[in-house]
Amino acid sequence: LDLAKLDLKSLVRTIPDYPKKGILFRDITTLIEHPEGFKESVERIANAHRGQGVTHVAGIEARGFIFGAGVAIAMGVGFIPIRKKGKLPGETIGQNYALEYGVDTIEIHADVLDDGDVVLLVDDLIATGGTAIAAVGLLRRTGATITHAAFVIDLPDLGGAAKLAAEGVEVTALIA
Ligand code: PRP
Ligand code: HPA
Repeated sequence: LDLAKLDLKSLVRTIPDYPKKGILFRDITTLIEHPEGFKESVERIANAHRGQGVTHVAGIEARGFIFGAGVAIAMGVGFIPIRKKGKLPGETIGQNYALEYGVDTIEIHADVLDDGDVVLLVDDLIATGGTAIAAVGLLRRTGATITHAAFVIDLPDLGGAAKLAAEGVEVTALIA
């Protein structure tokens, strides 16, 4: 098996009509259950971001934790969990973002970063970009620099990667 040629896209399962009729859900559980597929996903992201001065990887709950933690280990930096509201025990700062119906809030610890830190944002998938844009805004409020975000999957028709790029973030994705 030539890992450099491993087709990650073929390891993502598509489930129709989840969570609602008409949606084609891209399911990464089949990718992470495949040992080489999971390892390659993490290593390809880490290798694309070496030499950029990254001091931390931040991952978005919940699926961003799976890939982000692996990328942090591969790059030899610490990991920051961006959590849904009410889950972190210390003093937090939060950012609201729009869902299809209503709003949600993501949080980080208030003291986790400062200027001088360079954060790579990692998540499994970017769709509308609402979650990632909120995450970048939240991370930047600490004074840290966020110039790069990496996703396993981009759904380009939904425009999220272009919106994130307009915020001054260079976006990479392993699969479109
Ligand atoms: C999914 C996905 C991204 C986000 C992408 O997470 O993992 O974080 O949605 O959508 P967007 O680009 O339109 O904002 P979800 O909120 O379903 O949470 P989960 O990881 O806990 O399942
Ligand atoms: N798969 C997984 N997560 C998602 C999707 C999808 O197709 N769209 C928005 N979040």
